[in-house]
Amino acid sequence: MHVPGEPRVPVTIRDVASDAGVSVATVSRALSGNGHVGPATRDRIAEAARRLGYQPNDLARSLHGGATGTIAVLVPDITNPFFPELVAGIQAVANEQENLLLLCQTGEDPTTAVRELRHLRRKRVDGVVLVGGLPATDDLGAAVGDLPVVTVDRDAGWPASWSVRADHRGGGRMATEHLVELGHEQIAHIAGPAALTVAQERLAGHREALQASGIEPDESLVVHGDFGEAGGYDALRTLLRRRREFTAVFCSNDLAAVGALRALDEAGFRVPDDVSLVGFDDIHLARYLRPSLTTVRQPIHELGRRAATLLLEAAVGSRPEQHDVLDVELVRRDSTRPVRRGR
Ligand code: RIB
Repeated sequence: MHVPGEPRVPVTIRDVASDAGVSVATVSRALSGNGHVGPATRDRIAEAARRLGYQPNDLARSLHGGATGTIAVLVPDITNPFFPELVAGIQAVANEQENLLLLCQTGEDPTTAVRELRHLRRKRVDGVVLVGGLPATDDLGAAVGDLPVVTVDRDAGWPASWSVRADHRGGGRMATEHLVELGHEQIAHIAGPAALTVAQERLAGHREALQASGIEPDESLVVHGDFGEAGGYDALRTLLRRRREFTAVFCSNDLAAVGALRALDEAGFRVPDDVSLVGFDDIHLARYLRPSLTTVRQPIHELGRRAATLLLEAAVGSRPEQHDVLDVELVRRDSTRPVRRGR
């Protein structure tokens, strides 16, 4: 019993066992729910634990193979609003299931990712949600080991057992079809980083839509950005320097569209009167731009929820392999309009 003013001595599982008159192993089975303990003994143990104020040690529980109730998420860039919106969905499920969520940023750097994964394993997290896009290295595979990992959005460099992503290719088609329906034929594309599967799939969807409309893709109207505002700004200026005519631009994400909008304005082009502009993601910022941005909406919060739900099931071994692809939708706003004939 604690004497006021005296340092609090942690109550251990041995104290509970001694107080209840049973073995430590019996207390461990009763508290973890693993293995049989008679109801009378279980009640005696619970009463002793309550009376002594016993707090199970999470680390001790994890060392005995129990879950720690902690998961982690690794994202490339917390300054891109897409990722905080994704993490909010993951956090919602973690909260509902009383799990702690650790957030790590990889910067898309494999060395950083390996270091964080190794640290998380030492912390005995129950699993990791990983925004992939990292090159597959032996170190990365070793760092993951048998840790449950759900990849979300970008593919990992290895065959993950569980993944959740949006229909990136369908979204690229959708954005371009919208511009073709408005009469645009000279459609530029500011693609994402060439090494990322999400960028490759959106570019493929863009090309498919052009070809389905009888428009031959023109590689001089494609420039790769870096999914950031500055990359979008520089890519648009590169397009202008090529002196190739275009009446519309499809950007592979909304931040690139923010940069492109600035570059078009500086070059004297009005959006949408002179050039129509489409983004991808539908981050909260998109609707507050002037003009508000037409974009392909990813179900960002739901992507996070699904990934966390899959992970928590996989962490307890109850989830066979599963790969979810969520639909996207076009959100029409003020940055697109029918092409002006005779420009
Ligand atoms: O805006 C960031 C981009 O990176 C998004 O399109 C998302 O899909 C992620 O891959």
